[in-house]
This record gives sequence, C-alpha cells and structure tokens, in this order.
Amino acid sequence: MIPSKQRVFEILKDVVYFPKGGNIVDLEMVKDVEVGENLIRFRLVLDDVDDEKNNMLFDTAKKFLNDAFGDVEIDIIPTEPVTMLSQVKHIIAVASGKGGVGKSTVAVNLAVALAMQGFKVGMIDADIYGPSVPIMFGVEGERPECYDKGGKTYMVPVQKYGIKLMSLGMMVDPSQPLIWRGPMATSALTQLMTETDWGEIDFLVVDMPPGTGDIQLCLAQNFKVSGSVIVTTPQKVAFADVRRAANMFKHKGVSVPILGLVENMAYFTPSDMPDKKYYIFGEGHGKEFAEELGIPFLADIPMDENIATSGDKGTPYTFNNMGPVTAAFEKLARKIIERF
Ligand SMILES: Nc1ncnc2c1ncn2[C@@H]1O[C@H](COP(=O)(O)OP(=O)(O)OP(=O)(O)O)[C@@H](O)[C@H]1O
Ligand SMILES: [Mg+2]
Repeated sequence: MIPSKQRVFEILKDVVYFPKGGNIVDLEMVKDVEVGENLIRFRLVLDDVDDEKNNMLFDTAKKFLNDAFGDVEIDIIPTEPVTMLSQVKHIIAVASGKGGVGKSTVAVNLAVALAMQGFKVGMIDADIYGPSVPIMFGVEGERPECYDKGGKTYMVPVQKYGIKLMSLGMMVDPSQPLIWRGPMATSALTQLMTETDWGEIDFLVVDMPPGTGDIQLCLAQNFKVSGSVIVTTPQKVAFADVRRAANMFKHKGVSVPILGLVENMAYFTPSDMPDKKYYIFGEGHGKEFAEELGIPFLADIPMDENIATSGDKGTPYTFNNMGPVTAAFEKLARKIIERF
C-alpha cells in the first residue's frame, strides 16, 4: 500500500534537527514529498548541504520511515535554502570614498547599459540621503508593493526601463536623529536585500553612499558581493578618499574583489566637436592612480552637461542617447560582463 504524504510528515515529525532545536517538519525543512509503490522521496532544506553531520539526520529519517513503512527506498535530496537573493547572480557595488564624484551617475548608467545588452538588472540606492537613484529614474515618491507569504512580508521592487529598483530612502526617514539613522540604515539595507522579491537577476547594482562606514561594511560582510567598481574624478584631491575605499574592500574580513577604477568627468567633448577631447584636469590621472592601487582601469567617462540634466529629468542618459558618454558606459558594461 502506498503511504499517504500526511503519514510521511507525521513520521518525520519525530526527527529532531538539534542545531535548531526542533523537528524537521515544523522547521519547514521537508519539501516536495513524493510517495510511490516502493519509494519515498523528499527534499531536505539544509543551511550547509555539505556538512558531514547531515548524514546522521538522513540515517535517522530513513530508519523512522523504514520502521513505519517497511523496506521502501528512501531518497532524500539535500537542498540549499531558497532566499530572495538566491536568484541574484552578481551583486556589484559602485563606491568611492569621496562624495559627489558621480557614483550614482555611474551606477545608474551602468545598470542601464547592462540592461540594454539584454541582462536582467536590479538596483539598490544604499544612500539614505539619496534618493538619487529614484530621481534619476523618475520614480521619486513611489513605494514598493508588499505581499505576505508563509507568514513573511515581501516587497516588490519598483520597475522602470526594465530595471528593478529599491532605495534605502524608501525605508528610512533621513530626518531621524543620527543615532537612530545609523543602525536603521544597516538593518534597512539587509531588509532591502533579503526581503525584496528580486526574482531572477543577473546583476544587482548597488549605489553606495560616500565614505567607508557602516553601510559599506554591512554590504561587504553580510552578502556575497561579486565585485566593486570604484569611482574617482581626475583631481588628485579625490585620490586620498578613493584610496581609503579601495583599501577597505581589500581588507581581510571584508575582501570584496575590486573590478577596477572608473574615472568620471575625465575630459570634456563639446557636442559640436565630437572628436575633440579637452582634458581640463589633466590627462591620464585615472590610469596612473589605478596602477598605483594595483587595480584595473575600467573606463573614462566624459563630462557632459546632458548627463546631469537627463538625470534630473528622470531618464538615465544612456537610455536614449548615443555618443561618447553612452559608448563609455557600454564599454564599462562589457568589461564587467566579460569578467563574469
Ligand atoms: N560625467 C558627468 N558629466 C557631467 N555631470 C556629471 C557627470 N557625472 C556626474 N555628474 C553630475 O555631478 C553631480 C554629482 O554626481 P552624483 O550624484 O552621481 O555623485 P555621487 O558620487 O553619487 O554623489 P554623492 O556622494 O552625493 O552620492 C550630479 O549633479 C551629476 O549630474
Ligand atoms: Mg550618490
């Protein structure tokens, strides 16, 4: 006689998972139970599927099931837990120790360039003082919708130009006193990462706030960041702060791979003379600085007033413009794609 799934669950309720002090059924570790003439198969969700101690758990479950149903084959499939981030392939942090160098501009246009090359892209604005990303995408004031599943609440990102967007500014009130804002910001970032229903995403681009503080550490230490893009401007005054950011990512215990350096506002090209490049702050500073830091030089992005105006109007520049700026972001996107 084929046992009922309900009976299988009843038997498995006697199997205790000691690390969490409960039985494997109530801990929701048992999934997709299948029963056949001579077979009982199910998935067992384990935090560490490679842990040798799991074998004891498998043996206990098998013994209890065989005692109850006789000599049937028991097939237990160890399964990693599904988190909202498990369908996110790569997290890319866009950072710089320095404020105002164009992190948000680079992050947003990189996200658009990746999406234009056919990838599924998400973006997080991790700056509570933002909301630069929502402004640049023209979704300021919009809030994510929420839904409940399995007793938990999940957020659905706001979508624009095919990109899924979330912003810390949606979660934390920047007018809160500083002592609240700090811890709130890091827990809000964790929430944005883990309680957003991202779906399938190839690249999740994170626009970091300036500096090397709690938000940077929270992201680097708690999530598997595939790489960071460091943004600088050609002026040497920016370099000390940028160096600090690069060193933070290299630091043991943080160790986020640095994909390379982007030199923003590297030169100026007048729109009526697209072949001319004016290096207002000097040529090659970014390259030299990347060499000094021992990291790849990824791209130089020209200065163009339309980048600023299109950001203010809510359409990222690369979305509907051709020319040297868009070409520079396409090149940057290609380098990142090649890397992965
Ligand atoms: N390549 C560029 N050409 C012209 N203007 C630019 C360029 N890059 C950035 N800007 C402008 O410079 C200003 C600062 O850029 P942005 O907000 O991207 O910097 P940020 O590093 O994110 O700043 P913050 O540290 O405040 O987060 C904005 O007004 C933006 O439009
Ligand atoms: Mg910014």
